[in-house]
Amino acid sequence: MSEYNNKVVLITGAASGFGKLLAVKMASAGAKLVLGDLNEVGVKAVAEQLATDVVAQLCDVTQESHVKDLVSASIETFGRLDIAINNAGIATPMKPLIETDEADLDINFAVNTKGVFFGMKHQIPEMLKTGGGSILNVASMAGIGGAPQLSAYSAAKHAVIGLTRTAAVEYAEKNIRINAACPFFSPTPILAASDIDKKIEILAQVNPMKRLGTPEEMVNAMLGICSPTNSYMNGQAIAIDGGFSAI
Ligand code: NAI
Repeated sequence: MSEYNNKVVLITGAASGFGKLLAVKMASAGAKLVLGDLNEVGVKAVAEQLATDVVAQLCDVTQESHVKDLVSASIETFGRLDIAINNAGIATPMKPLIETDEADLDINFAVNTKGVFFGMKHQIPEMLKTGGGSILNVASMAGIGGAPQLSAYSAAKHAVIGLTRTAAVEYAEKNIRINAACPFFSPTPILAASDIDKKIEILAQVNPMKRLGTPEEMVNAMLGICSPTNSYMNGQAIAIDGGFSAI
């Protein structure tokens, strides 16, 4: 983890779940942090617990100006941006496709897809100025395959992978690596928001490892993907899934 020492790392959705744990682990490794979340109180509370240089502010990733301001905060405070993790996301209640409405699609695309697009649009120019960097977009297993009862979420996460691959190819020769992480279900607050928490036992049983992954396992894999030492992995949608996608 020493490879993160003094790196400037931006994380969206850092008030909870994977984003919060990423912030804690990055801080322990000596990274300087720029944290954003729709939950301003929550993200500032996370920042207060960290023993590192950290900026935390409101960032609703559906608002391009907020995402731009978060990147600006990194430059104004630390003079650079080395690593960005576009992690903020939501899930809407599970329902069949024919009961899914336009509002479900709109909110899933606004947060899960446009939030990632706005992130990369403003992060990449700063990395170009300093000769490179690494971006990790948090997609999902629902971005690789179909996710029954989660059509709007699945469509939005597939789009994240399309954006990731395209940006990765566009900026590879500029030394910016861009990958997507695709976790299987893991117990964070997002599961309750989508009613998935009621199906945890069934989901565990369909996984080859017969359990969900812990948030810590997911975040450990993410840290490996965006690590500066992982310098030849680019444009990939990497499953963190206990072997589910190998079936
Ligand atoms: P979480 O609900 O614990 O954390 C999500 C964070 O994003 C929260 O702090 C929330 O306030 C923030 N957020 C929501 N809307 C936002 C917005 N418009 N702007 C800025 N921040 C916003 O959930 P978790 O599990 O940590 O999710 C993180 C990412 O991982 C999401 O992109 C999610 O889709 C993805 N993921 C999660 C899985 C799981 O089973 N937990 C599985 C696969 C992917």
